[in-house]
Amino acid sequence: MVKKNACVFISGTGTNLKSLINNSRDYNFPINIKLIVSNKKKAKGLNFAKKFAIPFIIINTKNKLFEKKLLIEIKKRKISLICLAGYMQVLSKRFISNFKGKILNIHPSLLPKYKGTNTFKRILNNNETIAGCTVHFVNDKLDSGKIILKKKFNLSIDENEMSLKKKTQKLEYRAFSEAINKIYR
Ligand code: GRF
Repeated sequence: MVKKNACVFISGTGTNLKSLINNSRDYNFPINIKLIVSNKKKAKGLNFAKKFAIPFIIINTKNKLFEKKLLIEIKKRKISLICLAGYMQVLSKRFISNFKGKILNIHPSLLPKYKGTNTFKRILNNNETIAGCTVHFVNDKLDSGKIILKKKFNLSIDENEMSLKKKTQKLEYRAFSEAINKIYR
């Protein structure tokens, strides 16, 4: 299989990144991760870049030239898929239009419900009985691009933010990789 070159954007812990790295080491998984991008220099997830010797860059989104530099890095590595895995910054319309249909995001709710942040709190406040995660293409509206797949589970009666996060993220690891397999099938 000829694998595609992918890049993963993170801002935090990077557990989704870790799962993508692990899966990408499988011969049959359609991508190789060639670059990791973080907008936080202290993001814990950068440790996975170091551990697996994957090149990474830290971007300063306050610097107006950051996107230009980022595009150069991405093009240099012939990246054809960008995975947003807990990247907590909105990408510009210009950047998104450069990679139409090539940017995926994972979101910790069953979209179109609960777009944006603080999803777990809002899900619990609304007494939802079902929760889950969604992998979707990124367009220029927040958490609104075409959905690739969703995975769901039933909430337990004593669910709290911690347990909900844990269950959701466990599903996310499978969902992200399944979505990548699905788009290249
Ligand atoms: C995930 O729950 C994802 O849905 C959201 O941010 C979280 C990132 O977690 N967009 P991690 O950094 O992959 O551990």
